[in-house]
Amino acid sequence: MPTLELSSSPLAESDADAVIVTAFEDGLSPAAGEADAALGGLLVEMREAKEFRGRFAERPVIHTLGRLPARRLLVLGLGKRDQLDAFRLHNAFQFAGTTLRKQGVRRLAAHADPATVAALGNGSPASAADVARAVVTGLLLGNFEGDLNKSEREPDPGIERIELAGLDGDEVALRQALGEAEVLAGASNQVRTWAAAPSNTLTPRLLAEQASALYAGTGLEVEVLQRADLEREGMGALLGVARGSDEPPVMIVVRHDGGRPDGPRLALVGKGITFDTGGISLKPAAGMEMMKWDMGGGAAVLAAMWAIARLNPRANVIGVVPATENMPGGRAYKPGDVLVSKSGKTIEVTNTDAEGRIILADGLAKARELGATHLVDVATLTGACVVALGHVASGLMTNDRDLGRMVKDAAALAGDRVAELPLHPEYDVALRSDVADMKNAAGREAGAITAAVFLREFVGDVPWVHLDIAGPVWNDQGDMTVIPKGPTGTPVRTFVHLARAFAEL
Ligand code: BES
Ligand code: MN
Ligand code: ZN
Repeated sequence: MPTLELSSSPLAESDADAVIVTAFEDGLSPAAGEADAALGGLLVEMREAKEFRGRFAERPVIHTLGRLPARRLLVLGLGKRDQLDAFRLHNAFQFAGTTLRKQGVRRLAAHADPATVAALGNGSPASAADVARAVVTGLLLGNFEGDLNKSEREPDPGIERIELAGLDGDEVALRQALGEAEVLAGASNQVRTWAAAPSNTLTPRLLAEQASALYAGTGLEVEVLQRADLEREGMGALLGVARGSDEPPVMIVVRHDGGRPDGPRLALVGKGITFDTGGISLKPAAGMEMMKWDMGGGAAVLAAMWAIARLNPRANVIGVVPATENMPGGRAYKPGDVLVSKSGKTIEVTNTDAEGRIILADGLAKARELGATHLVDVATLTGACVVALGHVASGLMTNDRDLGRMVKDAAALAGDRVAELPLHPEYDVALRSDVADMKNAAGREAGAITAAVFLREFVGDVPWVHLDIAGPVWNDQGDMTVIPKGPTGTPVRTFVHLARAFAEL
């Protein structure tokens, strides 16, 4: 992890290898203006020649040829001022961080300024600390090493120091924001590492082991329920999905008891399918390798718990991650089977590929048993949600407007995008079963919503939000110029901000 510092030295005195200055489409930032002056008007000339327009994530790297102490200057386009939000600010600086890391930069200085703060707020107030947190988090995301499995990978220390300059504001708050960025980016990068890990190196058991190792020294209490525990607890839903796999299933339960014992208790429940073949309702071969990230929701819960322990808000938060592979096999569960879930509700399996909702049923029941007063589940749940929202936003569905608002506000701060889909009563009939309490899969129509309708059966009257991250978990869009490609870590930072909001309840 690079060291993070606040700097007050002007551009002309920085001893960094590279400096980042920003520009909107309508003009250069003050620091970019200073750089322009030092370089004899080069940036203005580039703008006039339309070689640099300040478009979003545009990022020419210019050699300063001794006119500035830093050898390189990266001019980062932030796009249209009125379109700036935390998502775009994180992404822009992630791109910049990756570009400079690849060029071997070790010490970098990033300049932000009050106009960026004003643009980020867009009417609602953002603080200098919000910009500091987003900028530094973005740079640390950009410093992520994504090629760990290449045998000829050269040892690369990456970025070693990041200085942030140009923001005026309360220095204590700015320093605190840097500390938060370190934890938030650390958690995001852990989720990205887990999401990218091949399923042969990240089985349910290994996920539990790695999470437990991560928690060492944090004060978190972690419990890993093994098959015998799952059987004793009547988790027929999770056990049903796990039948086809030789890898044993687990349920990981983590607790941060930071609030009053009788206060609200937030439970984060994440889907931990370490590989999804579809089971007997087998998926087509093309693209199946991506199903290694089908534990992205569970990874976000586990890493969020680590970050929450580090930042230590006075809130009670529980993480619950049911984890298994979904495999075909001689003992695999089959269409037509009926599973008895921990809650007692029975599920007719009409499609073994709709396995995420089944294991979450037992995860939600476990969270309620542990006294959750608020439930948030997160899952790479449906291809339908990817069709609806692409890789840009996660689907948000809820039975409670207030908790929905809290999650949306946390996401806005975190730089995660969520978009609400409705749970109109007309969708309820989709999962009616003739033989059990409900079936697990309906037709193609409104597939993201009917999945949530299934989950809602297991939350009772507890306020609940469901996040379908099937699109944003991994950005594989063809045009990689507006969202960094690969695993994103979403919505781990949302969870951390949500836990902090719970401390205020
Ligand atoms: N993990 C998948 C969701 C998924 C599939 C995300 C493809 C992104 C791309 C999930 O377990 C699944 O297979 N869902 C099915 C549900 C259907 C059978 C009702 C889907 O979306 O096709
Ligand atoms: Mn599936
Ligand atoms: Zn799945």
